[in-house]
Amino acid sequence: MNPASNLILVGPMGAGKTCIGRRLAERFGLRLVDADREIELRAGTSVATLFELEGEAGFRARESAVLAELLRDDGLLLATGGGAVLAEDNRRLLRERGFVVQLLVTVEQQLERLAQDRSRPLLARGDREQVLRELAQRRAPLYAEVADLRYDTGSLGSAEAAAGLAAAL
Ligand code: S3P
Repeated sequence: MNPASNLILVGPMGAGKTCIGRRLAERFGLRLVDADREIELRAGTSVATLFELEGEAGFRARESAVLAELLRDDGLLLATGGGAVLAEDNRRLLRERGFVVQLLVTVEQQLERLAQDRSRPLLARGDREQVLRELAQRRAPLYAEVADLRYDTGSLGSAEAAAGLAAAL
């Protein structure tokens, strides 16, 4: 990994991007930025409310704009949202502006980690397991297209996962 560049985490909801990102940022002296939180800060409201008011398309436009803005900087640990890889322009930007790590997670782990979560609008679109399986299938090639490294956190907690990933970088 080029230390002057950005370290970017991609992967589905519940893969641990934010939790692992926090620990990696500390370890490498990078500035942690969570794309969803930045969108919320700029909009003054939650991701769920943006989906309600502007639809998914409105949210995606904001997401692309925030990624482009954030990735003008270097030295970031950027935790992206699970759908950041959907737009081709985003995928190009992610590849160009950082070392991209794809966090792997099983649908079973996602269901367990997100069991209490009510903040992710896509999970409310139907049976959670089915939604997550469909997203995983549809997005697998998109994550693969941007990833410099794929890292399976398995059943590790975020501290062990971050340590293992740091050693792999
Ligand atoms: C989404 C993932 C979420 C958030 C939004 C849409 C997705 O981010 O951006 O709910 O399309 O997978 P996390 O991956 O941080 O949960």
